[in-house]
Amino acid sequence: MKLYLFFLIFSFSWLFAQTQTSLNIVTPQPFYGSEENSASFVIEAKKTLIDSIEIITDTNETIKIPIDANRSFYCKSIKLHVGENRVKVVGYKNAVAVKEEARELYLTSKVDKEHRYLPKEYVKGYFHNDENEKLCVQCHDMSVNEVKGEAFVDVKKSNCYECHKNINTKKHAHAPSVNWLCTTCHNGEVGALNKADSAKTKYSVPDPIGDVCFSCHKKHKEEWGKNRFNHEPAESGRCNKCHNSHSEDNEMYLRKSSWDLCTTCHKDKIEGAHVVKTFGRAAHPTHGVKDPSRMPKELSCISCHSPHASNTSSLLHSQSVMGICSRCHKK
Ligand code: HEC
Ligand code: HEC
Ligand code: HEC
Ligand code: HEC
Ligand code: HEC
Ligand code: HEC
Ligand code: HEC
Ligand code: HEC
Repeated sequence: MKLYLFFLIFSFSWLFAQTQTSLNIVTPQPFYGSEENSASFVIEAKKTLIDSIEIITDTNETIKIPIDANRSFYCKSIKLHVGENRVKVVGYKNAVAVKEEARELYLTSKVDKEHRYLPKEYVKGYFHNDENEKLCVQCHDMSVNEVKGEAFVDVKKSNCYECHKNINTKKHAHAPSVNWLCTTCHNGEVGALNKADSAKTKYSVPDPIGDVCFSCHKKHKEEWGKNRFNHEPAESGRCNKCHNSHSEDNEMYLRKSSWDLCTTCHKDKIEGAHVVKTFGRAAHPTHGVKDPSRMPKELSCISCHSPHASNTSSLLHSQSVMGICSRCHKK
């Protein structure tokens, strides 16, 4: 009974707050689970009640937005970091904070175990359905305007650009993404591992993604297919565990530098004892020195192993296990 009364009072005060709310976060939804490193904030503000907005991230970046007499919607793209992000939106009137709202967002990682899954209070976000898009069509063209296989000469002309421009800003960018041919991969289909995404968004990508990658990288499919030994995550089509499909600071759009990437899943190989165990030695370096076979690159796991496939056991870059030594040690 007491609880009931509490709810009644609570709902009335909530209703009251709504009728005179000065600021309201339209998107994202609370506890938003994301797989991509940016999120769009859309804020509805009443110009009579506030005169400026601040968006404050948990890395203490502050974005100030002045209120404009002619609009009530303010949009801003925010960068996310892996794990939990807490973003505050504060409305001011005459330099006094009058309303504060916050959103929690969680960016998952494809490789790090500790951030692979969403904590239980979070819900995987899906934006592109008719209901959500209705909130934006007044000012944004929400249709697809790409021509299959034809890169945009001016990428700003892509209808996807305005809201997703952060996606291709890292140092190395993948051709179909940087040419804004987004729907070649985001074809609206689902795979065996993401059946649950079916119909939740127009722009789903199949998981596993391998077949989509091979639709362009045909030569690799043919070459790797002929090999006797395959690396499990590549063979199962989960190319995106290691490669970002959009852009990344590492070469080949790797999610981490190759050594960091391999040792995330194979921690026991860091010391390199496995390399020389058959030769009666204690250990062999796996990084931190130059690789004589790939100058001027650093020695790494991929100096000896293929990340995808090989005809030699242990995915070695040689005809035989013994043969690998002579790539770098002449004798
Ligand atoms: C008016 C802004 C806007 C436009 C235009 C837009 N998007 Fe989005 N999109 C969003 C928002 C908001 C999200 C949710 C994630 C976020 O906040 O970035 C999203 C999420 C996505 C997702 C993740 C799946 C989902 O539905 O949540 C994909 C894929 C995507 N957009 C692709 C596209 C493509 C392709 C285009 C162009 C045809 C496009 N978007 C145009 C705002 C937009
Ligand atoms: C009343 C008009 C209006 C509505 C409604 C609107 N937008 Fe915008 N949006 C704009 C304008 C204008 C810009 C260009 C940048 C600016 O002037 O702030 C923009 C820019 C953006 C940007 C880029 C911001 C940045 O930091 O570069 C995103 C993301 C965005 N809108 C998302 C959305 C989404 C998602 C919706 C629907 C939920 C939406 N907008 C609804 C007017 C609107
Ligand atoms: C080469 C294939 C490919 C291309 C091209 C591509 N994407 Fe993606 N995208 C993916 C895959 C695969 C994922 C799944 C998550 C991951 O691997 O990070 C994804 C994830 C996303 C997400 C996050 C989805 C979520 O659930 O949070 C957004 C947003 C997105 N893509 C937008 C775009 C936009 C916009 C473009 C065009 C500029 C684009 N993508 C081009 C393959 C692609
Ligand atoms: C629409 C065609 C297309 C699709 C689909 C596609 N790629 Fe690509 N990819 C390209 C093109 C074009 C290049 C640049 C030319 C090149 O170097 O081969 C490229 C380059 C690459 C490179 C760098 C190659 C190098 O030598 O620099 C990697 C890695 C890569 N893609 C991985 C992927 C992965 C992983 C997927 C699936 C998530 C994928 N690609 C899907 C067209 C595509
Ligand atoms: C275990 C991590 C991993 C997985 C999974 C993976 N890759 Fe790679 N990929 C790499 C690394 C590391 C390199 C860089 C190799 C080098 O520089 O020698 C690379 C290089 C590439 C290249 C360019 C170099 C080349 O070999 O021609 C392409 C294209 C590519 N990958 C596509 C794919 C596709 C398609 C898939 C899924 C079928 C995939 N990768 C799965 C780690 C991976
Ligand atoms: C996402 C996790 C993951 C990443 C990242 C990863 N691997 Fe693996 N790797 C596996 C799995 C799963 C297997 C198969 C099970 C096993 O043998 O542990 C495997 C097996 C192997 C094998 C043994 C294959 C055989 O036939 O005996 C080698 C060698 C290997 N990985 C090398 C690498 C290298 C080199 C990298 C970095 C380019 C790498 N791995 C990155 C998950 C990963
Ligand atoms: C200097 C060459 C070399 C380097 C560098 C190297 N490996 Fe190996 N690796 C080998 C050889 C040789 C074998 C096969 C050992 C055997 O069969 O006796 C092997 C076997 C493996 C295996 C499969 C066998 C097993 O014990 O599970 C995995 C997994 C592996 N390496 C991962 C890695 C990772 C991860 C790195 C980077 C931290 C790495 N390797 C660095 C040469 C190397
Ligand atoms: C990709 C190149 C590469 C391959 C393949 C390779 N090594 Fe090495 N090896 C190195 C480098 C680099 C060093 C470190 C040299 C230094 O410290 O200056 C090294 C060091 C060594 C040392 C220590 C040498 C010393 O002076 O103490 C031994 C022993 C050794 N390797 C044996 C092997 C054996 C056995 C194999 C085959 C299983 C092998 N290596 C394969 C690159 C390689």
